[in-house]
Amino acid sequence: MSNSEQVHASLARCFPTMAQIASEFPLPAPINQRHYLVAGELKEWQGELAQVQSPVQVRDVNSSELSTIILGATPLLDATAALSALDAAVAAYDLGRGLWPCLSVIERVNHVEQFLNAMLKLREQVVQLLMWEIGKNAQDATKEFDRTCDYIRDTIHALKQQDRAASHFVIEQGVMGKIRRVPVGVALCMGPYNYPLNETFTTLIPALIMGNTVIFKPAKYGVLLIEPLLTAFRDCFPPGVINVIYGRGRETVGALMASGKIDVFAFIGTNKGASDLKRLHPKPHRLRAVLGLDAKNPAIVLPCADLAATAKEVIAGALAFNGQRCTALKIIWVPRAQAEAFNQLCVERMNQLKVAMPWQQSADITPLPEPNKTQQLDVLLNDALTLGASVQNPGGGEFIGSLYRPALLYPVNAKMRLYHEEQFGPLVPVVPYDSIDEVIEYVIHSDFGQQLSIFGQDSAAIGPLVDIFANQVGRININSQCQRSPDSFPFTGRKDSAEGTLSVEDALLQFSIPTLVAAKHNTQQIDLVKSMIKERHSSFLATDFLF
Ligand code: G3H
Repeated sequence: MSNSEQVHASLARCFPTMAQIASEFPLPAPINQRHYLVAGELKEWQGELAQVQSPVQVRDVNSSELSTIILGATPLLDATAALSALDAAVAAYDLGRGLWPCLSVIERVNHVEQFLNAMLKLREQVVQLLMWEIGKNAQDATKEFDRTCDYIRDTIHALKQQDRAASHFVIEQGVMGKIRRVPVGVALCMGPYNYPLNETFTTLIPALIMGNTVIFKPAKYGVLLIEPLLTAFRDCFPPGVINVIYGRGRETVGALMASGKIDVFAFIGTNKGASDLKRLHPKPHRLRAVLGLDAKNPAIVLPCADLAATAKEVIAGALAFNGQRCTALKIIWVPRAQAEAFNQLCVERMNQLKVAMPWQQSADITPLPEPNKTQQLDVLLNDALTLGASVQNPGGGEFIGSLYRPALLYPVNAKMRLYHEEQFGPLVPVVPYDSIDEVIEYVIHSDFGQQLSIFGQDSAAIGPLVDIFANQVGRININSQCQRSPDSFPFTGRKDSAEGTLSVEDALLQFSIPTLVAAKHNTQQIDLVKSMIKERHSSFLATDFLF
């Protein structure tokens, strides 16, 4: 067997046999889902279904051939079904007069708490589906679930604080005003496949708790894991407040946007996808968009960096969950004189990464959920090789089925696709630089502006860069990888990377609008307002304090 055949064979052996699956992590019973949630009812879909495949493939004991695991199916709704969900959301909102938008904050909180309690009971099932559906390892899948529950608790806490702060009147220049945040209308929430639970819920929950009614379309992959939650959604919210649909984006979401009845569009995905959908809305000025989009976050290694510590952090930042994080480090800039030493240290770290199945101990690199993703990565890699880069780590870029062994590519330059495009996978492009001005030029002319990381020890070198980059990206990380957490920090981006800001508190602002009631601050008006409060004629004006 040649060297490359051996590497190939060793990668193939990472896939389990059926017997291994049965003993290590038994397959869940197939979920052949026909129902979707509209107007508080689980409707039965009689049309076409979309098959759900696992990125985990099965190896034949004798031939080593790989075959696909089918986890179940989801309904491929058409535009008519999607529009029925829209009608339900529109009816539940009822132009702002519906039960949900008029409910008090504490009553809405009670519904969300009820949902959280129901969701907590489904932890094991949802975590397992996360692993089977998108190949996330056990630790990260569990973290995703728990982080989502924490996010819900934090959102409740933040809303209560906001309501407490809004319980009083403001008196300015002879005018008394009562300011509260109220819902925007009907929200469409769509999440990404890499965080199908967490990222989706970071818009869905704030949208709901602020009094909007919602149509939720789960991500393309990581879709079955929502099925166990459907009953909880149905039971914990009034009819029509949350509607869950499935199907091809073009057909379903396209129809929703074209109706002009969506008031808030919350979407995590590509900027092209977001633009195409936004364009369909006939009244763009009435559409509020909350978008988390593409990113090409650079790691900037300075000559004063601690190379060993930097290499460790860079590899973690570039390859956690196979590099499929919007916040992953996607291009690495290194001073030319230190590049060789740095690459070597990175390669040592990469050699320690374990290619394994999601449930196996210390699995770092796991199967990729997008069909053909390994081939697409191979195209990007070959483009770089043709234009002068080489793979620095042994076996890097080998792939079989859905498994791809990470590759560190060096030297990467502006002619290569990897220099500009978001790889969203386990490729680590390293660009040598002679002057920091080259890096600055790259950042300021990039189409993306989510985050970056600066690695160095000299404050005089880092400080001025912080000031330059503060007007370019949403977050600058010093000696640490890019990331979204803690969720109380603003998560945002410039240019084609985001629209709006999502922290626990900011998300509440995105899905609401400040409204005020004002009157002259004189005896007559004070008496009138006091009477409305005392007699409880208005809940908007109520000064109750939420304990
Ligand atoms: O894919 C984007 C995620 O929001 C990133 O979150 O940085 O905590 O992994 P993370």
